[in-house]
Amino acid sequence: MNYNLLHFKSLDSTNNYIKNNYLNIPNRSIVLADYQTSGKGRNNRVWFGSQDSLMFSILLKEDINKEKVSILSLLSAAAWHETLLKYNVDCQIKWPNDIIVNEKKVCGILLEAISKTNIECIIIGIGINVNNESFDDDIEKTATSLKQITKNKLDKTKLLLSYLEEFDELYDDYL
Ligand code: BTN
Repeated sequence: MNYNLLHFKSLDSTNNYIKNNYLNIPNRSIVLADYQTSGKGRNNRVWFGSQDSLMFSILLKEDINKEKVSILSLLSAAAWHETLLKYNVDCQIKWPNDIIVNEKKVCGILLEAISKTNIECIIIGIGINVNNESFDDDIEKTATSLKQITKNKLDKTKLLLSYLEEFDELYDDYL
């Protein structure tokens, strides 16, 4: 599947960008930002990402049944499990969609749906700590990065492409 990639230096939030523009951008667009000024986490938390993190959102506009939306969270997390295995990282999925390695969080997923009578679109927002060498004191004990785990600096674009391949496979089965 071909994705439409929209890459920004800075956005408030890649999820918000899609929320405000989903009518004008194609299905399966990827909105990627090097920096977010108001990154959002689940339960109204703030997501702090730096240049070392990979922050993007996937726009899905297929006709999706409301009852089946929540499975997409798990599917997005499962695709990370498959992707990270290719990097020799064996992660755990903490319900519904935190990716955990060595009891620390490496990736978070925020799924949002816009619905009227039917689902208009699904936004899957992903923040993964890739090349971060350290974290702020308040999350230092609970956060980790792929660089801290593998001791290697990773190419964020390759990681994104690798993820989209896995996501695609699972999503096509799901559809
Ligand atoms: C969580 O763990 O609470 C979910 C974090 C999701 C963060 C990502 S970063 C890209 C996308 N845009 C956002 O504003 N949030 C998600």
